[in-house]
Amino acid sequence: MDAVTDTRNRPLRDLRISVTDRCNFRCVYCMPREVFGRGYAFLPHSQVLTFEEITRLARLFVAQGVEKVRITGGEPLVRHDIEKLVAMLAAVPGLHDLTLTTNGALLKRKAQALREAGLRRITVSLDSLRDDVFMAMNDVDFPVQGVLEGIEAAQEAGLHPIKVNMVVKRGVNDSDALDMARYFRERGHILRFIEYMDVGTTNGWRMDDVVPAAEILRMIDGEMPLEPAEANYPGEVAERYRYKDGGGEIGIIASVTQPFCGACTRARLSAEGKFYTCLFSSAGHDLRGLLRGGATDDELSAFLRSVWRIRDDRYSEVRAEATASLPKIEMSYIGG
Ligand code: GTP
Ligand code: 5AD
Ligand code: SF4
Ligand code: SF4
Repeated sequence: MDAVTDTRNRPLRDLRISVTDRCNFRCVYCMPREVFGRGYAFLPHSQVLTFEEITRLARLFVAQGVEKVRITGGEPLVRHDIEKLVAMLAAVPGLHDLTLTTNGALLKRKAQALREAGLRRITVSLDSLRDDVFMAMNDVDFPVQGVLEGIEAAQEAGLHPIKVNMVVKRGVNDSDALDMARYFRERGHILRFIEYMDVGTTNGWRMDDVVPAAEILRMIDGEMPLEPAEANYPGEVAERYRYKDGGGEIGIIASVTQPFCGACTRARLSAEGKFYTCLFSSAGHDLRGLLRGGATDDELSAFLRSVWRIRDDRYSEVRAEATASLPKIEMSYIGG
């Protein structure tokens, strides 16, 4: 079947699968404790897709042109036996790139099993190397060392490359950017700085909290000179920069100041089986109902194509306009 494209001629290339809306952290910019407290109604297990359902959908997405699958959450490693899903997805023919984004808290325990199941590379979120700053951000007193040990375990298990995502929030962790760059450069990992985004409706986002990518770049370049590097693939979210002395690279994800909707090939599947065509969509398309209602592969494929064909999302490019007041889904629900 021909690859499907949307109204802006963007193909469907990536699928981000959220396997749970739960997380063992309460990052202030993602799952603020006041909202995601004891009384919060997470998805009941019966409404969460099974590994078989996820794998079936992934296979159908791959048949429509998807080449890369990223497992996300919430925190994907809190889902029981996640390595079983990794093994099932790793066996999907035509899926060239399977990866996972984690906060790293359970990675020391899981890295080897994930590698053995067929995961090749991994992305770990870490916002600071200082306990006081990191704990204030994760809001569960989880120490930096725990994440660093997870990263080491991933390296020992042979996961490569290891990327580290740092969300930069002004006045909170921007002064940690240089230390992070030095630390991960020495260890050969790729640090990516992410502009803080207005995802969801609970994090109280303000433009003043965003540290523009250009500013971060100046800061790093001033100490360790950088030069731009080619994108690894069309539509890569991170802009790559190499250290001029040959000692590794960093990435900058400027979704606020330099939006990349024009080349956005990403579809998202929520833990309960809703198909979203944008991180900022206010509504998803129910695939679980179709799956559990007995839809055939052909029917499901036709549905995926029909949704993608009419896609016209470009939220980050129009953020400043009226859309800002529309209801939005939470990052913890749909995954980074
Ligand atoms: P690679 O496959 O390693 O290139 O990673 P990636 O580009 O898919 O990046 P990753 O999944 O680690 O995403 C990093 C961050 O970029 C996310 O946590 C989001 O903050 C942001 N991001 C990723 N995809 C999108 C997107 O489609 N739209 C917007 N606005 N931001 C995104
Ligand atoms: N802005 C930018 N990145 C975010 N993440 C979570 N919330 C936000 C936000 N508001 C990132 C996390 C992690 C990934 C899953 O998403 O830091 O790297
Ligand atoms: Fe959990 Fe990741 Fe959200 Fe932090 S950013 S609360 S680790 S899902
Ligand atoms: Fe893609 Fe929507 Fe992100 Fe733009 S805002 S890059 S369309 S997911």
